[in-house]
Amino acid sequence: MSYKANENRYSDMIYNRCGKSGIKLPAISFGLWQNFGDNNSLENIKAMIFRAFDLGVTHFDIANNYGPPYGSAEENFGRILNSDLKTYRDELIISTKAGYDMWPGPYGNWGSKKYLVSSLDQSLQRLGLDYVDIYYHHRVDPETPLEETMSALDLVVKQGKALYVGLSNYGAEETKKASEILKKLGTPCLINQASYSMFNRWIEDGLEDATHEEGIGIIAFRPLAMGLLTDKYLNGIPETSRAAHNSKMKSTITEDKIAKAKLLNEIAKERDQSLAQMSLAWILRKGLVTSALIGASKVNQIEENLATLNNLNFSNEELDRIDEILK
Ligand SMILES: NC(=O)c1ccc[n+]([C@@H]2O[C@H](COP(=O)([O-])OP(=O)(O)OC[C@H]3O[C@@H](n4cnc5c(N)ncnc54)[C@H](OP(=O)(O)O)[C@@H]3O)[C@@H](O)[C@H]2O)c1
Repeated sequence: MSYKANENRYSDMIYNRCGKSGIKLPAISFGLWQNFGDNNSLENIKAMIFRAFDLGVTHFDIANNYGPPYGSAEENFGRILNSDLKTYRDELIISTKAGYDMWPGPYGNWGSKKYLVSSLDQSLQRLGLDYVDIYYHHRVDPETPLEETMSALDLVVKQGKALYVGLSNYGAEETKKASEILKKLGTPCLINQASYSMFNRWIEDGLEDATHEEGIGIIAFRPLAMGLLTDKYLNGIPETSRAAHNSKMKSTITEDKIAKAKLLNEIAKERDQSLAQMSLAWILRKGLVTSALIGASKVNQIEENLATLNNLNFSNEELDRIDEILK
């Protein structure tokens, strides 16, 4: 039986305007980086996407090389779009990106026009779509002129293959320069996708302000520090966690971080929230971040995370205590 979306899906979600654009994004969006390739069953992938959409998540974020293997997250999402979400296409904001390693040789990486244009063509084919809503340059390319990379973003919009463009992993100065070029080309930048969490506050040091001055929205990726800012690792590394199978992630789980997570968890409990919920509410606390971009491996994580929206308020005392812990 094919999927039918929850009729009340828009009742509890908050939608925030993305910069100075016409687009509103859900306060919590869903990303398909880690568990949406051929390393997961299509059944579980479908269950997570349907549950997110039923709870009002209208924005799904992918990149050309999400998998594993590269491209498989787009293929799986494309299958689901085709089999179950076709009638909901106009209710969805789907993004993809190019900028990291994708195919061998000099044209499958970084920021040339050659790479960005051909990668989007491949992404559209895997997704089975005529256009994506947002196309990102995934990281700064120090060797390609910024004008070339931005003109590739402008071109795909003019070709109708993307509606909006975004920047990811760009610093404050690079964002300003890229935004100026895009404005001149007539394709203003919609959104900046940057890492941000209680354990990673670098955007507060200039990027947040620069992005706002340019009228660009912010979507915060890795808001849960890949699970460290949930109750998952408070008492060790569970066998079913991302860290158990990923040595790079495992190396981020230090005694200091766990000690801080435990203290933060105490504040979360006083707020009647889980640590994951408080971490997401904290991302949204100033109204400067348009959307927190979460990942998940299970439906119940999505449900827990979306229930964050029941309490987004912090007292000054709570914020001070959090700052003290994070020092
Ligand atoms: N632009 C970029 O360069 C870039 C880079 C990275 C990510 N991203 C985007 O950001 C998205 C999110 O990244 P992320 O997955 O690293 O973010 P995250 O939300 O910080 O971490 C998600 C992971 O945390 C765990 N988790 C989530 N909710 C939980 C809960 N309620 N209780 C316990 N554990 C929970 C799960 O880990 P387990 O899998 O262990 O269960 C889940 O896979 C990606 O999908 C992608 O779209 C972009």
